[in-house]
Amino acid sequence: MHQDIEKILLSQPEIEAKSAELAEQLKVDYADKRPILLGLLKGSTMFMADLMKTLDIDLQIDFMDVSSYDGAASTGDVKIVKDLDLSVRGRHVIIAEDIVDTGRTLERVIELLRSRGAVSVEMVTLLDKPEARIAPIAAKYVGFTIPKSFVVGYGLDYNEKYRNLPYIGILKQSVYL
Ligand code: IMP
Repeated sequence: MHQDIEKILLSQPEIEAKSAELAEQLKVDYADKRPILLGLLKGSTMFMADLMKTLDIDLQIDFMDVSSYDGAASTGDVKIVKDLDLSVRGRHVIIAEDIVDTGRTLERVIELLRSRGAVSVEMVTLLDKPEARIAPIAAKYVGFTIPKSFVVGYGLDYNEKYRNLPYIGILKQSVYL
């Protein structure tokens, strides 16, 4: 697994420190709002766990599985594989994402949550790849802005591999070419 990594972009301590920082901001902004922290499966799982540990306010967590990816290329098509269990009507929702790339996934999810009556929808993302953006999506809470390369680890996969790497690394091109 480790041998397929070209370069480590972000180490575990760096990521954990940043997640705690983001959670501190959320804690202030959502102290009295009883938000739903909504993780998008499966990429956000490690980041969610980090956030939850610091975000010690009254909240509920839920997960949604929305798929838009086939290997390393965005298809632009988004389908709901698993919907939330909770109702978002009248609720403040914080979507936790691993990475915002084209922004298409988030655009659809935000649309859906608003149409279901969410009072507010904001996004917290560990990584942001603004160069790849197609949909006009801006996460309010961003961990790290990274270049357009394909990254894996800390929840992020390539063909369902590498999610368990405890760091974010750039995948060697030879692995997916
Ligand atoms: P978007 O709809 O193009 O913004 O894609 C968002 C989803 O694509 C993320 O939640 C990831 O699952 C996946 N994705 C985008 N870029 C990468 C990457 O560099 N590595 C792994 N997955 C990625």
